Amino acid sequence: MSASKSTAESTAGSAAPVLALRGISKRFGAVQALTDVDLEIHAGEVVALVGDNGAGKSTLVKTIAGVGPADDGVIEWEGKPVTVDRPHAAQELGIATVYQDLALCDNLDVVGNLFLGREIARAGVLDEVEMERRSRELLSTLSIRIPSVRIPIASLSGGQRQTVAIARSLLGEPKIVILDEPTAALGVEQTAQVLDLVERLRERGLGVILISHNMADVKAVADRVAVLRLGRNNGVFDVRTTSQEEIISAITGATDNAVTRRKARSEGQARTEGQK
Ligand SMILES: Nc1ncnc2c1ncn2[C@@H]1O[C@H](COP(=O)(O)OP(=O)(O)OP(=O)(O)O)[C@@H](O)[C@H]1O
Ligand SMILES: [Mg+2]
Repeated sequence: MSASKSTAESTAGSAAPVLALRGISKRFGAVQALTDVDLEIHAGEVVALVGDNGAGKSTLVKTIAGVGPADDGVIEWEGKPVTVDRPHAAQELGIATVYQDLALCDNLDVVGNLFLGREIARAGVLDEVEMERRSRELLSTLSIRIPSVRIPIASLSGGQRQTVAIARSLLGEPKIVILDEPTAALGVEQTAQVLDLVERLRERGLGVILISHNMADVKAVADRVAVLRLGRNNGVFDVRTTSQEEIISAITGATDNAVTRRKARSEGQARTEGQK
């Protein structure tokens, strides 16, 4: 596919990808969920992972997150093969995953959620002042606007909750953040808020894997888009130079539609002109 050439051009210099998957395969009983899948993520780029229902996106993310290790293939971290057989192994490398169900506690406030499981204590007592200070600092460096860090999560909007969940994933100082459908349940305004945050993650030099069904989101925020179809790679495209229709054709596997016909015509024309 012509798109793979632009990959090298769109990513900074010749630095090794932070994370690379090579030849990942995974089977569930009779279902071959992934076959020989490759994916590369560099520092400071947003890669959208798209594909139809059942294409293997979640399965692929689980292999990276150490939740469902692959049967076959290699995961490379900063150029070296690594074993990611448990969630803890992924976190230690610097891979953070924000799942769709968010796993926030409604009854806790923003500070409580941000520091859940990594509370700061001094002499055996929770240091609420320090956690609150760090919460404010984190949210403000990400330009996340929330009425107060002391209000319960339940009283935030869906977009605000999503941004808190993403902020929380950054406390472990990851290099790669995986976002599974972060805008799926959100309205226009809230989606914009989350996409803004994704841009800020990129500015901070993080690599972002964004799973999405929404082509407008993909076009708005991703640098590259990797398409999975029936558990296999079906192209990696540079978002700037690829139309929404081309991406959708790769997702559905449509080989005969208006876009491919036009492309075939113009290529045919170019060939004829080349022969003149
Ligand atoms: N735990 C499992 N046991 C058996 N089959 C599974 C399991 N998890 C996933 N599969 C199968 O693997 C294939 C890929 O599923 P996966 O959930 O990765 O797709 P997806 O791209 O995330 O789809 P969606 O967009 O619907 O979330 C599907 O055929 C699915 O039925
Ligand atoms: Mg899924």
